[in-house]
Amino acid sequence: MTQIKNNLFIKACKKEPVERTPIWVMRQAGRYLPEYRAIRDKYDFITMCKTPELAAEVTIQPVDLIGVDAAIIFSDILVIPEAMGMKLEMIESKGPKLYNPIRSVDHVNELKTIDPYKELKYVLDAVSLTKRQLNGRVPLIGFAGSPWTLMTYMVEGGGSKNFSEIKKFIYNQPDAAHKLLDLLADIVASYLSAKIESGANAVQIFDTWGGILSPDDFAQFSLQYITKVISKIKRSGEPVIIFAKGVHYKLDQLASCGADVIGLDWTMNLNSVRNMIGNKVALQGNLDPTILYSPKEKILKEAMNVLESFGKGSGHIFNLGHGILPDVNPENLKYLVDVVKKESVRFH
Ligand code: CP3
Repeated sequence: MTQIKNNLFIKACKKEPVERTPIWVMRQAGRYLPEYRAIRDKYDFITMCKTPELAAEVTIQPVDLIGVDAAIIFSDILVIPEAMGMKLEMIESKGPKLYNPIRSVDHVNELKTIDPYKELKYVLDAVSLTKRQLNGRVPLIGFAGSPWTLMTYMVEGGGSKNFSEIKKFIYNQPDAAHKLLDLLADIVASYLSAKIESGANAVQIFDTWGGILSPDDFAQFSLQYITKVISKIKRSGEPVIIFAKGVHYKLDQLASCGADVIGLDWTMNLNSVRNMIGNKVALQGNLDPTILYSPKEKILKEAMNVLESFGKGSGHIFNLGHGILPDVNPENLKYLVDVVKKESVRFH
């Protein structure tokens, strides 16, 4: 196996000592980069996901151009519902659409259970190709949606304002909902295991819609299945990160789901979270992504606030509190990365 030259990210995930705080950003392979848009002008999004050479190229762009300390494989959480038989389309400036959304137990029973080495082989090929091309420069992160977040898209058929359909589904057909969540937990676990086997050095689970649930419903419909996924991932030391947006009210439970790292959005204070769960897990986050619209002085000040809020010692991975927005100037991200690399030294 190739030795990883810059392994700060993995060390920080394991709370091992590092000489500075590592940084990467969610959605770093994306439209804010002109180099990404140049490729995206020629191919549609799903074709890019399904073509390992293109996926590898855009995965590595932010490593070359911005200097982040980890790469995250270019793909999407919705490749799983697509592989299970749902028709997926990315609608320009509107987001994803899944046709014929799930509304009944019969429909759940019609879904295909999948073998990641068959239906999602193109993702695994992208992972191994990217690994080869990275040639040990930085670690590679694999990812998947949580069962709850995937089910939300599968039932809503896309993004949503009020989440009426998914709420109707779980409250009126809880057995069907649990059946689907259980199936998704098995698939996500085997998919993440396959990504690790193909070369991913860490995996992140995105529970983007965990925060739309009440605390009790979160425990029942989301956390339970995240815990199941993590317990089933086949790994030998590769860290697992859970990013659950808007669930500050459940951080203590989240810290016991088996993840090594908890990703935080910007509504939480790193210092108080560290005091609460920092001896159990490492923390990732949590600059408000819109700070990257600000002048450099403000970016510097807010980056320092995040570093100071975590304080001294290992176990912090710098990131945004959610994905980078498509109209951010890449120079501002480059500035943030340089600031974190330079200023974080004194915290170690
Ligand atoms: O982080 C990375 O750089 C890796 C790539 C990545 C993408 N999607 C590429 C993408 C990752 C990790 C994701 C995860 C993802 N996809 C999530 C969870 C993360 C989160 O944001 O909470 C979710 C909810 C999705 C579903 C999805 N895919 C949405 C809602 C959208 C449209 C919204 C948007 O930003 O336009 C996508 C499309 C998508 N996924 C794009 C990219 C680069 C934009 C597609 C394009 O180029 O037109």
